[in-house]
Amino acid sequence: MNPLPHLTTDTPFCIGLTGGIGCGKSTVANLFKAHGAGIIDTDEIAHQLTRADGEAIQAIIAAFGPKYITTSGALDRHAMRALIFTDKNSKITLEQILHPLILAHSKELIHRACDKPYLILMVPLLFETPGFLQLVQRTLLVDCSEENQISRVIKRNGMNEEQIRTIIQHQMTRQARRRLNDDIVQNDGSLDTLTALVLTLHKRYLHTGQ
Ligand SMILES: Nc1ncnc2c1ncn2[C@@H]1O[C@H](COP(=O)(O)OP(=O)(O)OP(=O)(O)O)[C@@H](O)[C@H]1O
Ligand SMILES: [Mg+2]
Repeated sequence: MNPLPHLTTDTPFCIGLTGGIGCGKSTVANLFKAHGAGIIDTDEIAHQLTRADGEAIQAIIAAFGPKYITTSGALDRHAMRALIFTDKNSKITLEQILHPLILAHSKELIHRACDKPYLILMVPLLFETPGFLQLVQRTLLVDCSEENQISRVIKRNGMNEEQIRTIIQHQMTRQARRRLNDDIVQNDGSLDTLTALVLTLHKRYLHTGQ
């Protein structure tokens, strides 16, 4: 067991869910949700912060100028993605704006979820982003082979193999992830197999969270 203490005794047991692109994080989170777990999705928080009139928009304009804002007032995700992919300093600047806000919102949502038996906090960059590990008592990796990552993402949203391989190369290696996480869901089988693996974990977390 991870020895980290609960955020407070009033907050539910919280599991940090992580994994590489297309490994099945959202699918696994939905399966936990069906069992009654509370889900906090940091990608969703980031989207809310950067939508039109979102909390981060003024800071983004101050740092990058209006060029990366659409006519509707939201972050131009496409343009920003292209920028931070090639310019490391821009990536750091954007993270310095977004990460403290995402962390603060995550904490607030954890405190508001006292009715849940346990929580799944989805943080794709759990080990790379300061602060998030302090919010969780355990970490869960969704892992699959690179071949499955690529074929599933191609099928899902039509990115090409080269784009996906570039993203994978920029992410933490599978070996490092597997070493760092407390629990692993191996998602190389069918959706039925995944469903069964999540049920087993659900029973454990329900017990641990009590
Ligand atoms: N065991 C499986 N068998 C077949 N398809 C799967 C399996 N697990 C997930 N998928 C599919 O693979 C795709 C990627 O899964 P999912 O979106 O859950 O991954 P993710 O880790 O959340 O991705 P991202 O990093 O982009 O957020 C989805 O289309 C999903 O339906
Ligand atoms: Mg996802």
